[in-house]
Amino acid sequence: MKTAVIYYSLDGNCRLVAQMLREELGADLFSIETLDSKKRKGLSKFVWGGRMVFTHKEPPLKPLTVDPASYDLLILGAPVWAGSPAPPMMSFLAQEAIPAKKRLALFCCHMGGMGKALETFKSRLAGNEIVSTKDFISPEKQTAENLQAAVKEWTLALKG
Ligand SMILES: Cc1cc2nc3c(=O)[nH]c(=O)nc-3n(C[C@H](O)[C@H](O)[C@H](O)COP(=O)(O)O)c2cc1C
Repeated sequence: MKTAVIYYSLDGNCRLVAQMLREELGADLFSIETLDSKKRKGLSKFVWGGRMVFTHKEPPLKPLTVDPASYDLLILGAPVWAGSPAPPMMSFLAQEAIPAKKRLALFCCHMGGMGKALETFKSRLAGNEIVSTKDFISPEKQTAENLQAAVKEWTLALKG
């Protein structure tokens, strides 16, 4: 099963999960990056990201070459921002046509307040086959063993 993991990560949590998924599945890995690469910390990071969610702004992205049609399974991952998938993932979905009926698996990383992020993520991809969804709480704060086990468990479900 040819698999691609396509993720956005601002602070490294989704990246960590995506890298583990790549290792478990032998997948190709693609990172969504915003054109705006200014580093924001503390409150200004939350204001910047939260505003994007509330104004439905989808930020411009750096070019990313990926051919969704050439994969059997696409795993898409994004952090939760203000109860929604982070807008850069929405930018990617707006600009990259995911072929209808594609097999997809979705994951989110968050700090314990997922809100309706996975529901919103799924509804944005109506018309595709969502085989599984998974959320990870603060991956970088977990022990490597625990996170690895959670990722492995999910990949077994994906393979099955
Ligand atoms: C703008 C912004 C909004 C956030 N909103 C939420 C939220 O609503 N619920 C939550 O549990 N975590 C929220 N977080 C925390 C992130 O979802 C969490 O730290 C996630 O693991 C970050 O993934 P990343 O390291 O791949 O960027 C928010 C973070 C940012 C920057």
